[in-house]
This record gives sequence, structure tokens and C-alpha cells, in this order.
Amino acid sequence: MKRTLLLPWLKKPHKRALPDIQSALSPVRFYPFMSDLADIIDSTLQAINAAENMAALDEIRVRQIGKKGQLTGLLRGLGKLPPEERPAAGAGINKARKTLEDAIATRRKILESSVLDEKLNADAIDVTLPGRNGEVGGLHPVTMVLQRMENFFKSVGYDVIEGPEIEDDYHNFEALNLPEHHPARAMHDTFYFNPNLLLRTHTSPVQVRTMESGTPPIRIICPGRCYRIDPPDPSHLPMFHQVEGLVIDHGVCFADLKGTVIQFLRVMFENQSLKVRFRPSYFPFTEPSAEVDMQCVKCLGEGCRICGQSGWLEVMGSGMVHPKVLEFSGIDPERYTGFAFGMGPDRLALLRYGVDDLRHFLDNDLNFLAQFR
Ligand code: DAH
Repeated sequence: MKRTLLLPWLKKPHKRALPDIQSALSPVRFYPFMSDLADIIDSTLQAINAAENMAALDEIRVRQIGKKGQLTGLLRGLGKLPPEERPAAGAGINKARKTLEDAIATRRKILESSVLDEKLNADAIDVTLPGRNGEVGGLHPVTMVLQRMENFFKSVGYDVIEGPEIEDDYHNFEALNLPEHHPARAMHDTFYFNPNLLLRTHTSPVQVRTMESGTPPIRIICPGRCYRIDPPDPSHLPMFHQVEGLVIDHGVCFADLKGTVIQFLRVMFENQSLKVRFRPSYFPFTEPSAEVDMQCVKCLGEGCRICGQSGWLEVMGSGMVHPKVLEFSGIDPERYTGFAFGMGPDRLALLRYGVDDLRHFLDNDLNFLAQFR
């Protein structure tokens, strides 16, 4: 736009009729008298209040009070008015500007909050809907029993030691006083890889490895998986767990074994008056040896289906470590004695949770497992 057109009233001042809104908002072409100014304000206010979005509102702002806007142009042209008219015209324009600025700010707030409202409505969530939680898992019952056992023995000063599941014949049998052709080997239906390498049939080889590599005092439990060729039935699985215990020190005696085992079973089954008995038995690696029976957890000794009417449950093998076993692993049986025990956490889990079939533990049936969470 040419400069000469900007303030035409300077050449020929005259009062013009009120322009329509469009021309009121278009770049300045005339000097407004106060009444015209009021009309500009009026129509601009209308436009502001009708603006439906930020872009439209901003367009009005630029057109009226922006750098090249209508009111700004008027202010710039003031200098060309007769000096006596300037103050009133200036004040009028400034007031108009302020009015429009306020109106724009107000409208902007309204538009902003309606934008926000729209967004909130679009994103609305129904807080009364039940949440979509992930399924909470739980520990396997055998794991829980294993942890309970470990916690007990750790609390009385035992270390928890693990060993290999693939063993050699020496550690699994020989060093435990089970030489080749020993009849007790028949009870261990063994998975062999070759004549020397096998899946361990019990956790007892870990006591051999511990005695070989350490010196007394030794106080350990060895939890882990064991394998025997047993077709699965309610009380047998080809893969099962054992926890082996071993204590070796000066002057360890059978009373230590009894006290330890009885206290363990009472804590495990949360019954401080639980009856426990030691029944003479035979294991090649202990002498004397004993089977440990505890009072039936179901009938408390009355006799029921679970204990085969005897009132007792067989829960572990135990005994004083055989001098030959100590010797095999380089411990002097004249200076040291020890006790050992071995038990099956799978069976303890059956008893503790009243499960009737070991195979449930391997079915991966979530309905079954969820009961133990
Ligand atoms: N290893 C034996 C088994 O698998 C269990 C056992 C019995 C371990 C007596 C022992 C023990 O340490 O003293 O049948």
C-alpha cells in the first residue's frame, strides 16, 4: 500500500459513514472521529466474541492492534493532526486498544479452556471401569517349601550349597561307600550317559564335593534336582528334589542330629509338639543310620489313608557319616565326626499342602497352582 493512501483524511478531512465490519477490520484508510472509533470497537468486539478458534482470534488481533494494524496505524498518524486534537484522539485510540486487548485476552481464555474441555472430553476415561490388571503370579509350592527349608537352616548357621546335576560315578556312588555291584545301587535306577557319567540320583554327592574342597567345621544343606528311572505315579516322579544336610566338626554326635531334625520338622510344620521318631535303617554312607518318621500331619497319629493307618509319615533318611566316607574325601575320622540327612521337599510339599498326587506339581495347571499364591 502506498504511503499517500495511508492517511487520506490529512488532505481532506471528512466524516465518513460507519464502515461495515469487513472494512472496519481492513487496514486503515481514514481518520476515525470518536464516534467512528466507538463503531470500530463495537464491530471488532463482535468479531472477537464470534471468533471460533485461536487462528481467527489472532487474525483479528493482527488486523487491529498488530504492528500494521488499524489502531496502530491511527496512533502513528496522530502527529499529523492539529496539535489541539492530538491528546483526545490519542487517549481515545489507546483506550480503544486497551479495550480490544482485554477482549482478546478474555476470548483467548475462553477458547483455551474450551480446547481443553474438548480434549478432556475426547480423552475421557470411565474411572468406574474395573482395571485391567495383569495376572499376579505366585511361587510354586515346591519352591515355597524349599525356601522355608533354606530359611530355617540359614537361621541356624548353615550354608546353602549347590552342585552339578550331571555327576560322575565316583561322586554319586563310589565316594559315598557305594562301590560297583553294591546291592544298594539297585535302589538308584540311574540315567547313565555312559558308564562314568550320569544324572545324579540324590544330592549326597554335593556333600562329597564340599568335604573334598573344604575343611571342617562344615555345616551345609544342598538343595537340588535329582533323577531316577521311575515311571510317574502319585508318589514318584523321574525328576524330583532333595535337600541334603551335612554337619562335620569335633564331637558331633547323634543327639545333635536328633535335635536338629526334630526342631526343623516342628518349625516346618508349625507344630512345636510334633512327635518325631528315629527308626534304625541302613544307608551305605552313614553308620548308624535312621529313617526319620513324624506324626501324621492329617490324623495326628490316629491312623488315616495318608499315613496308611500307621499314624506315622516317613520324611527323611539320616545317620552319622560313615568313617569311610570321611576318609574318601580326606577328612580324618579319628578327629572329626558328622551327621547327614537327606529328604524330599516334593513330598514335604504334598504333606504341608494336603496334595494327593506328586504329578500335580508338574502339570502346569494354573487352577491348581493359583491355590498356593
Ligand atoms: N541320599 C539318600 C537317598 O537318596 C538320602 C539320605 C539318607 C541322605 C541318609 C543322607 C543320609 O545324607 O544320611 O535315598
